[in-house]
Amino acid sequence: MKLIELNQEQCTKCGICTEVCPVGILDVGMNGVEAAFPDACIACGHCVAVCPTAAIDNQKTPLVNQAKLEEFPVLDEKTAQQFLRSRRSIRRYKNIPVPREKLLQLVEIARFAPTGSNRQGVSYIVVEDTKILQKATEATIQWMEEQSKTLSHWSFDYHIRSYREKGKDPIFRGAPHLVLGTTQNNFPRGRENTIFSLTYLELFATALGLGSCWAGLFEMCAFSNYDPLLKLFNIPEGKVLTGAVMVGYPQYSYNRLVDRNPLDVTWL
Ligand SMILES: Cc1cc2nc3c(=O)[nH]c(=O)nc-3n(C[C@H](O)[C@H](O)[C@H](O)COP(=O)(O)O)c2cc1C
Repeated sequence: MKLIELNQEQCTKCGICTEVCPVGILDVGMNGVEAAFPDACIACGHCVAVCPTAAIDNQKTPLVNQAKLEEFPVLDEKTAQQFLRSRRSIRRYKNIPVPREKLLQLVEIARFAPTGSNRQGVSYIVVEDTKILQKATEATIQWMEEQSKTLSHWSFDYHIRSYREKGKDPIFRGAPHLVLGTTQNNFPRGRENTIFSLTYLELFATALGLGSCWAGLFEMCAFSNYDPLLKLFNIPEGKVLTGAVMVGYPQYSYNRLVDRNPLDVTWL
């Protein structure tokens, strides 16, 4: 099958698909739209999605798999702003598990985030077993204790004491779940792709009544290849951990939107 299948009767030769193609491989010729370098197609789906007459199909991103956009209302400005601003890092969770179907809904949205050259490539490990998280907290604290012998980090001593002396969990904050992003080792832009994907996940969590928080302390330990931590997650051979977000039902709701540093922008 050719990369591009064209319905000649429906194609008006408007050329919009050629304009939006990120790799510029489409041309309007005598026979309508053709792909000059089909191997260079990054399967972004734009040519199919933008066509006003549904005349173009792409083997790598079939028309049948694209949802019609008119079914989705565009958010008005205020709703969109509040939606984005009301996501909070949640550090207090209800002591109840999130059903797997809901966790699945959550990771399902993550794969729609933008990725470098549309390579995607992020896989997820969802931790449902809280015992694994308890062991991961202990391992991260042990790693912090080892680190503290040779270098000082502004928060390590505080977190170690809060765990050892007060029995608190400063790593996962008592969240019942952890979502890990993984990619093949040396996958181009693996970390960035994971950050965008997990950010989509974090934003969507709110709509599912869930809370989340980036697990940065855990990541520091994991990214240092601390084996007692990594071995808890059975990361497949050839893959590496690229990001982590904790998830659960928030214990509290927020009543106000927080402010940030004043906008710093330069116009040229
Ligand atoms: C890369 C990254 C790592 C983070 N690591 C942690 C962490 O280890 N523990 C934690 O409680 N919060 C962590 N956070 C959450 C930030 O502290 C939080 O985003 C910031 O305070 C702003 O609050 P907000 O997310 O509620 O707007 C992290 C956030 C990011 C983006």
